[in-house]
Amino acid sequence: MKNINVCTHTHIHMGSVPATSWVLVLVFSQVSTHTTSFPPTSCSAACLCLSQTQVLCNSGGLHEIPLKLLPPTVEQLSLTRNDFRIIKSDSFAGLRFLKKLSMDGNNISLIKPFAFRGLPRLRDLSIQHTPLETVAPFAFAGLQNITSILLSYNKIKKVESYAFAGIVNLRQLVLAHNPLIKLDSNAFTGMTEIERIVLPSGIRHLEPDCFNGMDTLGHLQLAYMDLPGLRAGIFRGLTNVNYLSIQESDLGTIDGDAFNDMTFVKNLNILNNKIDSIQFLNFTWEQRIGHLRFQGNHILEIPKAETLLVEVDKLTVIQNHFPCDCRIHSLLDGPLANGSMLHFISRNYCISPLEVNGMPMNTIDIDSIGRCQEEVTKGNLEAIKDITNTSAQRIHTFCAYINLLFYFFKLFRIT
Ligand SMILES: *[C@@H]1O[C@H](CO)[C@@H](O)[C@H](O)[C@H]1NC(C)=O
Ligand SMILES: *[C@@H]1O[C@H](CO)[C@@H](O)[C@H](O)[C@H]1NC(C)=O
Ligand SMILES: *[C@@H]1O[C@H](CO)[C@@H](O)[C@H](O)[C@H]1NC(C)=O
Ligand SMILES: *[C@@H]1O[C@H](CO)[C@@H](O)[C@H](O)[C@H]1NC(C)=O
Ligand SMILES: *[C@@H]1O[C@H](CO)[C@@H](O)[C@H](O)[C@H]1NC(C)=O
Repeated sequence: MKNINVCTHTHIHMGSVPATSWVLVLVFSQVSTHTTSFPPTSCSAACLCLSQTQVLCNSGGLHEIPLKLLPPTVEQLSLTRNDFRIIKSDSFAGLRFLKKLSMDGNNISLIKPFAFRGLPRLRDLSIQHTPLETVAPFAFAGLQNITSILLSYNKIKKVESYAFAGIVNLRQLVLAHNPLIKLDSNAFTGMTEIERIVLPSGIRHLEPDCFNGMDTLGHLQLAYMDLPGLRAGIFRGLTNVNYLSIQESDLGTIDGDAFNDMTFVKNLNILNNKIDSIQFLNFTWEQRIGHLRFQGNHILEIPKAETLLVEVDKLTVIQNHFPCDCRIHSLLDGPLANGSMLHFISRNYCISPLEVNGMPMNTIDIDSIGRCQEEVTKGNLEAIKDITNTSAQRIHTFCAYINLLFYFFKLFRIT
């Protein structure tokens, strides 16, 4: 007890330490009375060595990592609220037993490649509440056994390609509360065991291949994005996903091949988004999508029936808002309704025209909504094809052609 008290009183400036830290220090002091004694000289001036394995250097005014002054046996090291600005390559080399490292509340603006090399047992790394703006390539490379990296509450605007390369065992990455607006290609490449990624809200650009190279992914939630569209290649390389949710976002236009390269996704949720239009929505059996839940979305334009291919094990389409216009017929005949129109109209709503906005589809008279001209025209053409097949009905064919000509003529004059 005596040793510890000397250490705290001489080396920590009381004025700058919040009361909670003092409570912590007292608690730890009592714990450490039970541990074996060690020479206090093994600790640097700004640190408190609770034991040979646990060292606190919080609010110590440090500018450099006090590497030479730490016991090489340290397993838990806290370096919060110091003044580290640049974490150089190999900053921690030699701390072979370190398992947990916290550098929260520092002035870190740059992490050089391989900054944490030489920490084979490090499992938890926390760098939060810093002005860090960029996660540069290979910043964490060499952390063979890392399972969790917390990077919340920084100023991260950019995660560069290969930022997390070389850390195959990572299970959890938290990037919440950062002003990140763009995910570069290969930003997450190399995380083959990742279970959970938490991204901040407000992402505006997803580059193709931004999730590429993540072989098994437990849980990925993409929320509060503001995208011009979901483009080809965004989800390329995503395989063996247990749960992927795209939610509460403005998705713009969904392109045909946006989901093409995604395979073995157990649960794919598209929830509460605004979708301007769907150019193609393409899920094939080969992709092995388990349950597609399309729920609570506002779709501003009904996709044409022939642009939808939904081959999934289970499909739930509920609480969405669609325009109740001439295309509603093809929607109800199409794969999103999957043959159960009554079920579909009792669980989805109209977004337009204005007078039916928000009303369940089954409260409006759908039969009174005319079919679109394009569908009518197509229907006529098919009818004509059938008729032309039988030579006996040539006269009808002729009439139909005349009708059609008139129809086009009318169209031409109107537009
Ligand atoms: C961070 O740097 C600023 C000046 O750049 C300084 O005023 C401040 O004290 C530093 N913060 C810490 C925790 O050392
Ligand atoms: C990595 O972590 C696992 C599980 O905690 C452990 O068994 C293994 O020894 C660790 N590897 C090293 C190099 O410490
Ligand atoms: C839909 O997927 C199939 C099979 O992957 C592919 O051949 C086709 O080109 C895709 N269509 C679009 C519009 O992407
Ligand atoms: C579509 O409906 C059929 C017939 O009711 C059903 O067997 C099938 O499972 C449904 N498909 C999906 C993806 O829910
Ligand atoms: C014409 O009708 C016959 C018999 O109804 C059918 O076998 C044939 O496939 C049809 N041809 C075309 C071009 O639709």
